[in-house]
Amino acid sequence: MKEFKAVIFDLDGVITDTARYHYLAWKRLAEAQGVHFDEAFNEHLKGIDRMGSLDLILASSPRGYTAEEKLALATEKNEHYKELIATMSPADLLPGAIEALDACRAAGLKIGLASVSRNAFTVLDSLGITGKFDYVVDAGTIARGKPDPEIFLKAARELGVAPPECFGVEDAVAGVASIKAAEMYAIGVGDPRVLAEADIVIPDLTAFSLA
Ligand code: BG6
Ligand code: MG
Repeated sequence: MKEFKAVIFDLDGVITDTARYHYLAWKRLAEAQGVHFDEAFNEHLKGIDRMGSLDLILASSPRGYTAEEKLALATEKNEHYKELIATMSPADLLPGAIEALDACRAAGLKIGLASVSRNAFTVLDSLGITGKFDYVVDAGTIARGKPDPEIFLKAARELGVAPPECFGVEDAVAGVASIKAAEMYAIGVGDPRVLAEADIVIPDLTAFSLA
């Protein structure tokens, strides 16, 4: 990994298990709307922004929704999600996360965060790791969510590193696609059968290595 100058991490499902909380919050909303929701369907939502996820869920609903109704549902999901993450602390860091961040720092890499979550700053703060990043993309400034490369390209630009000299770390199919569209090297975290587009796949960050 010697040729790289920067690493750009995803947050949800990579550094902390918030992917579980997004799943629970969407499941409650979907079922209240009469839409069947399971882990397989949720896999398509990972890495997808809030309104994009809602649209995918409501596409299976028998009825149509006005823009106001959609906004109300997205707000309701986010309130539930915020309840679920309210008690997060450094104990919620996934195994290997701190070690991976510290190894990147020790290797002299710039470290960025590219999460489409508008709750990312709150989550980083609860985990006590805000100071470990040189740059965190504000999801509110991104026009096109993952799988578009915009968020990874913005992180690279702000870190002052050319995209081919960056690698991204992602747990979602849409996230890996975003990294590859940005012409970066992709480390997938999870199941290699799901993250087939990644350059390498590790089961979790305890297996993260710069060797
Ligand atoms: C991504 C998650 O990181 O953020 C998605 O993988 C989530 O599941 C998205 O929908 C948006 O998050 P938020 O916090 O802005 O609703
Ligand atoms: Mg993720």
